[in-house]
Amino acid sequence: MNLLELIRKRCSIRRYNPQTVEQEKINYLLEAGRLSPSACNNQPWYFIAAQSDGDRSKILEAYPREWAKPVPLFILICGDHSQSWKRPADGKDHLDIDAGIAAAHICLAATEMELGSCIICHFDVPLVTQHFGLPPTIEPLIIISVGYPDDPALFDTTLKRRKDLKDILR
Ligand SMILES: Cc1cc2nc3c(=O)[nH]c(=O)nc-3n(C[C@H](O)[C@H](O)[C@H](O)COP(=O)(O)O)c2cc1C
Repeated sequence: MNLLELIRKRCSIRRYNPQTVEQEKINYLLEAGRLSPSACNNQPWYFIAAQSDGDRSKILEAYPREWAKPVPLFILICGDHSQSWKRPADGKDHLDIDAGIAAAHICLAATEMELGSCIICHFDVPLVTQHFGLPPTIEPLIIISVGYPDDPALFDTTLKRRKDLKDILR
């Protein structure tokens, strides 16, 4: 599978088999995140792999969705505002961009291993901060659900609804 085929295959999976994700696969995902580019190479992130029942239930409290209940692994990407690059001209903090690229790499790596993934941002930030004891400069930015889809055909049946290139190219 070339890169564009992998990008086409990746889709948000919201139906999971509760089967545990193998440790070597988790390591592969974390490596894909670790190697991501970041502004000034500051790497202003921390990853939390929430796998235990206790950690998963903390995530589910902050993101209470029926579909997420069987998810065996959540990767929480936290950003450190004290490490991220701020553009001198206007002070723009590039933390979100850095975290987004890491999330994309992790999701593509998951897809390559036939693991489903979904980027989640609509969660209760104060609750995650409290549950995981995050210090003030660390912001929980992105949760990624990871696990085997309850049907591998989900990869092939999910439609890509995207704007045409002619509508977005200037
Ligand atoms: C920054 C970002 C935040 C997202 N937050 C959520 C979320 O909170 N819950 C959810 O179910 N999906 C979330 N998604 C998934 C998007 O809905 C999904 O990527 C989009 O509809 C395109 O579908 P696809 O991923 O299947 O290609 C998010 C995606 C991105 C990139």
